[in-house]
Amino acid sequence: MKMRHNWRCDKCHSSERFKVETSLFVNGAKDTQLLHNRRYSLNKMGEDGKHHADYANVTGLTKEETLQHVVDSYEALAADTTNWVANLSNCSSLLWHAYHSLNVPVNWTGFYVKNGDKNELILAPFQGKVACQIIQIGKGVCGTAASSHKTQVVPDVEKFPGHIACDGETKSEIVVPIVKDGKILGVLDLDCLSLEGFDEIDQKYLEELADLIVKTCEW
Ligand code: SME
Repeated sequence: MKMRHNWRCDKCHSSERFKVETSLFVNGAKDTQLLHNRRYSLNKMGEDGKHHADYANVTGLTKEETLQHVVDSYEALAADTTNWVANLSNCSSLLWHAYHSLNVPVNWTGFYVKNGDKNELILAPFQGKVACQIIQIGKGVCGTAASSHKTQVVPDVEKFPGHIACDGETKSEIVVPIVKDGKILGVLDLDCLSLEGFDEIDQKYLEELADLIVKTCEW
């Protein structure tokens, strides 16, 4: 359930960033204050001697906290630019380091984007080994997510008809479509070296990230 809170920080009296719709806020002002503190400290990066790379340093958090950190960090970083190459590059890095902090053996985190007017996706910013450059929309896991506008959670890639094996070591995969005004812009793709690497928790946070990408990038 989503709710809208009009909320004001009792420390800095800011409210503008926190008229936000999120299921996190249903627990009320205490959680809102915690979220505000975390976002405020992320937004201060660069102003107090911290470095951009610090966003990728995650340790000792649960899976949900780690993925929320990725979402918050992406949002804070994207405040600096709307350039999609810059934002998707940093997003790939955030995801790579976040999953490795959880000891999930992710071997690819990255993006394919729609290739102009062509009915295909083309390789975009990523972390991991080199990958296929062109994927037809409708083919493979990425092309299926792009044509259906639906997230594909694949526990065993060998059981997905038409899976495109860029890396023969990949065992499972999740692909989230990035859709704006009903049109496909691209897909977010994560691969894992173990079976059942991704579940509905990954889907929830990665879909939130895809929504933020639509809002923060110019294409
Ligand atoms: N496995 C994907 C291809 C992209 S790579 O995993 C990076 C697919 O079936 O579409």
